[in-house]
Amino acid sequence: MNTSTHTETRRLASVLLTGQRPSRLQRKGRYMPESMTHPAKMLPAIAAKVIATYTEPGDLVIDPMCGIGTTLVEAVHQGRDTTGMEFEAHFAQMAAGNLRHARTQGATGTGQVVHGDARNIATALADLTGTAALVLTSPPYGATTHGQVCTGRDNGGGKIDKSHNRYSTDRRNLAHRPTAELVAGFGQILTGCAALLRPGGVIAVTVRPFRVAGELVDLPGQVITVAEDNGLVLADRFAALLCGLRDGQIVTRASFFQMIESRRLREHGIPAMATAHEDLLLFQVRTELRPGGGW
Ligand SMILES: C[S@@+](CC[C@H](N)C(=O)[O-])C[C@H]1O[C@@H](n2cnc3c(N)ncnc32)[C@H](O)[C@@H]1O
Repeated sequence: MNTSTHTETRRLASVLLTGQRPSRLQRKGRYMPESMTHPAKMLPAIAAKVIATYTEPGDLVIDPMCGIGTTLVEAVHQGRDTTGMEFEAHFAQMAAGNLRHARTQGATGTGQVVHGDARNIATALADLTGTAALVLTSPPYGATTHGQVCTGRDNGGGKIDKSHNRYSTDRRNLAHRPTAELVAGFGQILTGCAALLRPGGVIAVTVRPFRVAGELVDLPGQVITVAEDNGLVLADRFAALLCGLRDGQIVTRASFFQMIESRRLREHGIPAMATAHEDLLLFQVRTELRPGGGW
């Protein structure tokens, strides 16, 4: 298969309607309930769309930071084979559990999860060198995420609790490193993943900006820079909606804390809005870096 033609002819629309159903409903019955404890999961509809567009049944899909395994689950449901890597043992176990669950639901692809630091992915998965059609992943965005909200109605009191809003307490997790180190580490991961791609393969990254003490961190821009510094070229860029669209209006899916936080920032004169999309960045390996050139 000429995958160069494949990516050119199967272009996505520039805005993906991936938030038409709330994430909770997208996962219901398809993922083990404990998956909800992960603070920053990819929307299953985004993973499903990217996999359907850039791969064929039997192709290999890799996620180097697989969390609870959204990429992996959506891949095996589409008859793709898949390998994920995850730094946190408990998330790696959840990803493996979600893959087993997918098998019981008739998924035909095969999947495996490797527990470890994806900065070493080229070595850890050396047997997969040059074989992946697609790498689909998302970096962590900051140590503290919005997590789950428990309101007074849920906990029998008037208090609003926030839970599952951190990945772990392990300082070595890239989520817990300063942004520059997170981005540099992600660059190393991208380099390792490029070695796993077959000719014509693509790397898709979903990423959104986040705020540190009110300051906007342009993580999508930083990911593009570090990817280009590591031998990749930005081939395309899309907006994957987290919100729904109905009758031309936005149906927000922002969490309670996102709403509160953006309102608080606006009260301080910062024109913040709740996030309604993620950037979907598509990279390919710079041609001249491939032995023999050409895709
Ligand atoms: C944004 S989350 C990915 C979520 C995933 N797409 C899902 O839907 O579950 C990023 C993940 O990267 C993991 N991580 C952080 N540092 C890592 C590293 N060095 N190697 C592998 N995984 C890492 C975090 O533990 C977290 O689960």
